[in-house]
Amino acid sequence: MGKKVVVTGVPGVGKTTVITGAMDRLAGEGIVYEPINFGTFMFELARKEGMVADRDEMRRLDRDVQKRLQRAAASGIAAISGDANVIIDTHSSVKTPVGYLPGLPEWVLRELMPDVIVLVETDEDQILQRRLGDESRTRDMEGARSIAEHQQFNRAIAAAYAMYTGCTVKIVRNENFLLDRAVEDMVDVLR
Ligand code: AP5
Repeated sequence: MGKKVVVTGVPGVGKTTVITGAMDRLAGEGIVYEPINFGTFMFELARKEGMVADRDEMRRLDRDVQKRLQRAAASGIAAISGDANVIIDTHSSVKTPVGYLPGLPEWVLRELMPDVIVLVETDEDQILQRRLGDESRTRDMEGARSIAEHQQFNRAIAAAYAMYTGCTVKIVRNENFLLDRAVEDMVDVLR
């Protein structure tokens, strides 16, 4: 049975960067993970239905529509993951105009049943800086205090996910100039 690792963190904290670094390092050891981006699964469905033109519009869709896309993405991912080692790039919670939407509600967890949930975190001023520097995306421009609240909420809800699945919760710090350390911590989780 493969290992299922779910990687979460607020937008722009560097989830994808850390995952890519860790997978590159592990490939040298012959350890292979299939990377799956949960948002991409949702986006492909939403785009086919003509609801969005870019992935950053999804968190502003009607709450019930987001939940429907989320459910469909979870079962699609469960169907393709099989016995392989998989790493799922997603969110503990999504900040929507009507509040935090759980990224891994019961119907998603039942499909994914992760062994580990990783929370990628860093100081909120660094996250703000990274969002400001990323012109490829339509980032939410919120203040440092609001990002701190989101990170706090993500820890709380990850504890609830662990209660439901018995998975472990690992916090990986991805600080400026210390990407190598974050990659090393992620490699330890995946090995
Ligand atoms: P998704 O695409 O996953 O959104 P995201 O969080 O914005 O992901 P990114 O890949 O853009 O950010 P990242 O944290 O990976 O940062 P990156 O590595 O690029 O999801 C899209 C949407 O899908 C969501 O908004 C939501 O609507 C939906 N969705 C997804 N999962 C869902 C779920 N379960 N339920 C409901 N909806 C869901 O890095 C950012 C920048 O920082 C880069 O420029 C990078 O070079 C830089 N950087 C990274 N690390 C460092 C470092 N150590 N030092 C300096 N710079 C660094």
